[in-house]
Amino acid sequence: MLDLTWNETLSVGHPVLDAQHRQLMDTMSELHGTLTQGGAIARAAEVLDVLLEQARHHFATEEELMRESGYQGLDLHKSTHARMLREIEAFAHEAHNSPATFRSLDVTGFVAHWIVSHIRGDDVMYRDSMSRL
Ligand SMILES: [Fe+2]
Ligand SMILES: [Fe+2]
Repeated sequence: MLDLTWNETLSVGHPVLDAQHRQLMDTMSELHGTLTQGGAIARAAEVLDVLLEQARHHFATEEELMRESGYQGLDLHKSTHARMLREIEAFAHEAHNSPATFRSLDVTGFVAHWIVSHIRGDDVMYRDSMSRL
């Protein structure tokens, strides 16, 4: 069972970023629920549009705070964000334009990977730097 509930172990030490992560996870949970409960692709497309907007906003906020804090890993982190946005854009495009192709994509795998790998692996790296803001 994929657990997409935010909890303190995912905290990156900044209240705004934690709140955005929580919101993103809620949206991904909704997407996951829509897909696993056989919901309409049109609904998944709508949720992906929301996820895309939230992700764009979150990445911009996170990158600005990393820059302000003097975080050394900013460039690498930005390229990871850009790659993730392209993936979400591709999912949204397929959901809107090619439902049959969309059904074959591993959207849930991407969602799980994002949580486990990015927030736990990449985002937590800036925690010390951000605490000096
Ligand atoms: Fe990030
Ligand atoms: Fe993040």
